[in-house]
Amino acid sequence: MQTRIVKINDPSAQREEIEKAGELIRRGELVAFPTETVYGLGANGFDATACAKIYAAKGRPSDNPLILHVADRAMIDLVAAEVNDTAEKLLTAFCPGALTLILPKSGRVPPKVTGNLSTVGVRWPDNAVARALIAAAGVPIAAPSANISGRPSPTTADMTAADMAGKIPLILDGGNTRVGVESTIVDCSARVATILRPGGITREMLAEILGEVRLDPGLERADAAPKAPGMKYRHYAPKAPLTVFCGKSERMEDFFLGQAQKLQNAGKRAGILASREVADAVRRILPSERVFAYGTQGNLTEIARNLYAGLCYFDNCAVDLILAEGVTETNLGLAIMNRLQKASGGRVIEIGEFKNDSISQTL
Ligand code: TXA
Ligand code: MG
Repeated sequence: MQTRIVKINDPSAQREEIEKAGELIRRGELVAFPTETVYGLGANGFDATACAKIYAAKGRPSDNPLILHVADRAMIDLVAAEVNDTAEKLLTAFCPGALTLILPKSGRVPPKVTGNLSTVGVRWPDNAVARALIAAAGVPIAAPSANISGRPSPTTADMTAADMAGKIPLILDGGNTRVGVESTIVDCSARVATILRPGGITREMLAEILGEVRLDPGLERADAAPKAPGMKYRHYAPKAPLTVFCGKSERMEDFFLGQAQKLQNAGKRAGILASREVADAVRRILPSERVFAYGTQGNLTEIARNLYAGLCYFDNCAVDLILAEGVTETNLGLAIMNRLQKASGGRVIEIGEFKNDSISQTL
């Protein structure tokens, strides 16, 4: 199948392209589109046959439910059976925005779309192209991130095309996404609202509105099953093995420089995914193309925005292993560390506890 990529600079000035895309969705085809978090792979959320194409294009396990994207508040009532007080408060405070609410599902949503769960994830994105597309389609759009299952989520149309070209008729190109990590998923049915996946709306922001918020135990402990089915899979993984190092930022430059030198001496081609400060230091001894700077130390907004491009970068670069610099788990740092944790298969190491001699065994 030929995949068209159409640049959308201003959806209101490009009505014809948006209408055509909405028509494709209504006809049961797939359209990839930008949101403020990551690119989504969309289908008519009321059409189980169309949604089956999403699972096929991504290679996604069929028990992993899709979230439904709406264009306005009224559409939420088509997909959710009930919107409780907690959900209303969050809608008022953060929507449209980088949030997905888990609500009881309405009878109109086919069971296959929600993996037979009685709940549905509802997301009202604030990206202008996404909202124009959903409005033009006139139906809620089911959309997971537009990557092949297990791969990093795309934050540009090019990254989307790398996974989806040849499989879908259309990609709407809205440029780089603003947030860079996926939406925060909040289960509103629990007595205390619970974060199932940390994302663009932070735990601190939610707590300010609700008072109390919990983290799903599955996010904190390896032995607890996560409540969002998709969180149990290895995810966001680059092809080369990745290890994450955490610790005081002022110690990072020396640490990475030391490890890079050791690996270089041992004939290993290391890739470094780190802050600009660390990247500048290791470029003194490593070829520049093996170093990806994800942003300035402590600038979590910038780091979140560049994270997935960084994870994908090393797939086109001959490296044996990747060393990544971790961040503190406050604000957006919780979402960033959750993704790095998954990308590394849990190999997150405190530099204070790291034994230098064991590097080749550990890495
Ligand atoms: O930012 C985002 O949320 C992006 C953009 C495209 O909107 N979408 C996205 O979708 O990340 P996806 O499918 O890649 O991740 C959705 C997650 C999965 O882990 C899935 O298991 C979980 O949401 N989920 C969906 N419906 C659920 C439900 N009813 N209960 C619990 N978890 C659910
Ligand atoms: Mg995903």
